[in-house]
Amino acid sequence: MELLSNDDLDDLEREFIGRLRGRVLEIGAGEGENFGALHPDVVWRGLEPDAGRRRELATRAREWRHDPTPLDATAEHIPLPDASLDAVVGTYVLCSVTDVAAVAAEVRRVLVPGGRVVFVDHVAAPRGTAKRVVQNLATPIATWLDHGCHWNRDPEPLLEAAGFTGVDVRRMRVRSRPFGPVPVLLYEGVAPG
Ligand SMILES: C[S@@+](CC[C@H](N)C(=O)[O-])C[C@H]1O[C@@H](n2cnc3c(N)ncnc32)[C@H](O)[C@@H]1O
Repeated sequence: MELLSNDDLDDLEREFIGRLRGRVLEIGAGEGENFGALHPDVVWRGLEPDAGRRRELATRAREWRHDPTPLDATAEHIPLPDASLDAVVGTYVLCSVTDVAAVAAEVRRVLVPGGRVVFVDHVAAPRGTAKRVVQNLATPIATWLDHGCHWNRDPEPLLEAAGFTGVDVRRMRVRSRPFGPVPVLLYEGVAPG
């Protein structure tokens, strides 16, 4: 697996996110870290369950001339109609949600047929590796200290089970301290047409 720096990963994230067009929902949008990566023609809407982050997100959305009314919801229950979006993006969110399969199903529901998804996340190392053992041991602490973050998840099979087809799926290792390189998944997929 290719070893990247954080700057290399940022560039790749921008490339994946920049491919999205039309009505785009960003789930777990945090404080708006991805605005600079969006194509200028995108009609963006954010979803963020954390009140403090949502306030900052609204401020930054206004600065970027996007809709400054992020949805107060979780991605397991998106308060939007069926087939109302062209794309959904989430970075470092599927590690934190309560139920990845429910999120994948809900994202599929709100997308038009053939709609796009982009997800970027740190993921589980292969089973049987020392890295995976560390991830398994660290996850109960990470979920407690870091807003439900799981170090040992791999959302790709659950996205595929929900009906998405990966069109550009890349697995990298990104330099990190103190535990050494972290496996990262960049997933661009398409909903059934
Ligand atoms: C690690 S932060 C990532 C924020 C931002 N996407 C980024 O790349 O910097 C994870 C975000 O997911 C949000 N989150 C947690 N559980 C969620 C859920 N069930 N549905 C949607 N967002 C969730 C958190 O509030 C937080 O803003």
